[in-house]
Amino acid sequence: MIYLKTDEEIELMRESNLLLGQTLGELAKWVAPGISTLKLDSIAEEYIRDNGGIPSCLGYSGYPNSICASVNEQVVHGIPSGYVLKDGDIISIDLCVLKNGFHGDSTYTFCVGEVSYDVRRLLKTTKEALYLGIEQAVDGKRVGDISNAIQSYCEKKGYSVVREMCGHGIGKHMHEEPEVPNYGRRGCGPILRSGMVIAIEPMINMGSRNIVIERDGWTTRTRDRKPSAHYELSVAVREGKADILSTFKYVEEVLGDRFI
Ligand code: MF3
Ligand code: CO
Repeated sequence: MIYLKTDEEIELMRESNLLLGQTLGELAKWVAPGISTLKLDSIAEEYIRDNGGIPSCLGYSGYPNSICASVNEQVVHGIPSGYVLKDGDIISIDLCVLKNGFHGDSTYTFCVGEVSYDVRRLLKTTKEALYLGIEQAVDGKRVGDISNAIQSYCEKKGYSVVREMCGHGIGKHMHEEPEVPNYGRRGCGPILRSGMVIAIEPMINMGSRNIVIERDGWTTRTRDRKPSAHYELSVAVREGKADILSTFKYVEEVLGDRFI
């Protein structure tokens, strides 16, 4: 069952996603060599609560924290810990915010200090793929058009697409239908209709697409331990052009010319 949102509901979702974007902007100020991922988690939780939101990853299926902090070869669902970021790391921070009864969902992969050209190229490609996917999120197209745009771009650049995890519909529930895979065929899958809200989230690996889940039951990493990137925005499908509800604007303001 796909829930179409009214214009009013989409405005409420824009608010959840605005707070989420601002939280990522706050985190951007702190991501640097020497900070632990657990400290980033507490900064995010406090910022969200102080601004009237709920960090909705916390407690979701028993998830223990407010953010997912996935470093280097970790793909998604890295559990914040005492790990201290070091120069040359990358960290994908994925979080959900519940406000006005609606969830927002967004992820940004940050560089920690100086990151190699090869890894920065992976990040840039993944973010570009996200926007290529978003271009397809218009009324009358199909989910496979989004999937194919992401897959073909990333594979053309020599990277691989994680298959086991997907983007998704979002609204009153963090995960709603439809699934939005990052691989697939043009013209296939559910038809996109104005009022659908989906989180598009390419998870792209430098090496092979294979992943393993660590013994903690959450942390997902590449099998070959090569780096992985992840960017995510929640968008409303519209006629002609998608309406991007979450935003990297605040991250960009903080990072300036370090913004990839
Ligand atoms: N933002 C993630 C997603 O898109 C949700 C994290 S799962 C959680 O699926 F359990 F950590 F919340
Ligand atoms: Co998501």
